Amino acid sequence: MENKKNKKIIIFASGNGTNAEEIIKHFEKKDEINVQLVLTNNNTAGVLKRVENHKIPAISFNKDVYKQNLVLEILNLLNPDLIVLAGFIWKIPNSIISQFPEKIINIHPALLPKHGGKGMYGEAVHESVIRSSDSETGITIHYVNQNYDEGRIIFQKSINVRVMDSIKNISMRVQRLEHKYYPIIIEKLLN
Ligand code: GAR
Repeated sequence: MENKKNKKIIIFASGNGTNAEEIIKHFEKKDEINVQLVLTNNNTAGVLKRVENHKIPAISFNKDVYKQNLVLEILNLLNPDLIVLAGFIWKIPNSIISQFPEKIINIHPALLPKHGGKGMYGEAVHESVIRSSDSETGITIHYVNQNYDEGRIIFQKSINVRVMDSIKNISMRVQRLEHKYYPIIIEKLLN
């Protein structure tokens, strides 16, 4: 019987890497989809330790490397089926977006189009939700285009914001949603 083609994911992450790790764990159990590589712009990021524990290769790069399109060269060489941004802080250049149309996705810790855009990362997003007295927040998984947080929405899940909620508390509840849904949505997109 012919082997089903293996699908490959490359993850971009800048920080702690909890989403990256959940995605890696999810696909460790599946033969047909693999996390091929993790790329980071931060050589002290927590994600590097997490990735090492799962024996997934990782590469960190600086701004010069990024600007010289060397990351694009790596992507072209490995030709992933999906590029997954999991807490990646830099903008994806147009050169990468045009080479991988509809193949780059991001997760945002709020219900876009609210609380998105430049500088809206991690806790700043939850702070903005609380300041706006929103009654709900959640997660958005979307395609990446040339503007921050504006690509076509693939999936959203909401939770209520309670009067007593702190940034820490919302962050924890939102991350729980991210860890539950991001791997499942990635799998659906690849199948
Ligand atoms: C996640 O909550 C993700 O939604 C957010 O960064 C966090 C990374 O956490 N991304 C953004 O805010 C993008 N604008 P992690 O490093 O533990 O996965």
